[in-house]
Amino acid sequence: MTELRPVKDIDAKPAKATPTLPDAQTVTEVEHYTDRLFRFRCTRPASLRFRSGEFVMIGLMDDPDPATGKVKPLLRAYSIASPSWDDELEFYSIKVPNGPLTSKLQHIQPGDEVILRPKPVGTLVHDALLPGKRIWFFATGTGIAPFASLLRDPQTYSDYDEVILTHTCREVGELTYGARLIESIRSDELLAELIGEGFHEKLRYYPTTTREESPKMGRITDLMRSGEVFRDLGVEPLCPQNDRAMVCGNLAFNLEIKAMLEEYGLREGANSQPAEYVVEKAFLD
Ligand code: A2P
Repeated sequence: MTELRPVKDIDAKPAKATPTLPDAQTVTEVEHYTDRLFRFRCTRPASLRFRSGEFVMIGLMDDPDPATGKVKPLLRAYSIASPSWDDELEFYSIKVPNGPLTSKLQHIQPGDEVILRPKPVGTLVHDALLPGKRIWFFATGTGIAPFASLLRDPQTYSDYDEVILTHTCREVGELTYGARLIESIRSDELLAELIGEGFHEKLRYYPTTTREESPKMGRITDLMRSGEVFRDLGVEPLCPQNDRAMVCGNLAFNLEIKAMLEEYGLREGANSQPAEYVVEKAFLD
C-alpha cells in the first residue's frame, strides 16, 4: 500500500516542516535497496497497538494550497512491516516516479518527522483465517511488507506447521529486503527456536524474478499452474482442508491469484467471517 498526493519538500526544511503535526513520529533509520525501493524505521507512539499484517496511514505535509496558503497532510496506507513486539515501526516503500508522496518520502533522513495516524486496520491478520496446517504468504514487490511483520510474529509459528513465503519481483536487487528478513529471522534466537532447523524447519522461502536472471525465474502464478513450485517445495497443491493463504501485491497479481485460490477450493475470509484466504493490495499504482 502506498501513494496519495503532493507534499512539502522535507529536504529543504526537515524537522521544522511539521510543527503543526499532532501525529508526528521521528525517522530513526533509512535504507535504500534499489532506485525503486527503500525502507525506513521511525519511533512508535507509546499507545499504538496493532495486529501483525495491519496497515496505518502515514505521510508528510502537502505543499501549501496556492489559493489559501493552507497546508494539509498527504497520507497513504502503508503496511507495518515490523512485528508488534518491536519498539519502533518499520515501513517498506516503493518510489513511484512523480508519485506525490513517495517522490518526497524517499528523501527522508534520520531525525526528520513523518505523520502517522495511529489507527491500524487491515485484512491480512490471523483472525481472518480459520485454523489450518500450512500458511502461504504470496507477495509481489513491496507486498512483502505485511508479511515481514507476520513472519516475525511468534503466533505465525504456533498456529501453523509450515509457513511458506513466495516473493516475486522484477529484478534480483528487489529481493534483498526479503532475503535479509529471512536471514534475520533464522538468526533470531527466539524465532529460530520456534521455526526449528534443517528438515524440520517450518519456514520456507521461495523468491522468484521475472525480468532478471536468478536461480528461480517466473511469476509465482505460472509456477503454480505448472506445478513447479509444489515440486520444488515438495508439498501438495493447495487444498481447503490444510492450506491458508494471504496475498499482497499489485492489482493484476491479486486478481489472478485470488481466482486460482478459489479454484483450489479456498474461500475469502474477513475479520468478521474467517475463511481460508485473505487479500490486500500492496499499493495504488
Ligand atoms: P512481470 O515482470 O512479468 O510483470 P511490479 O513491480 O510491476 O509491481 O511487479 C512485481 C512482480 O509481480 C513482477 O515480477 C511482475 O512480473 C509480477 N506480476 C505482475 N502482474 C502479475 C500477475 N498478474 N500475476 C503474477 N505476477 C505478476
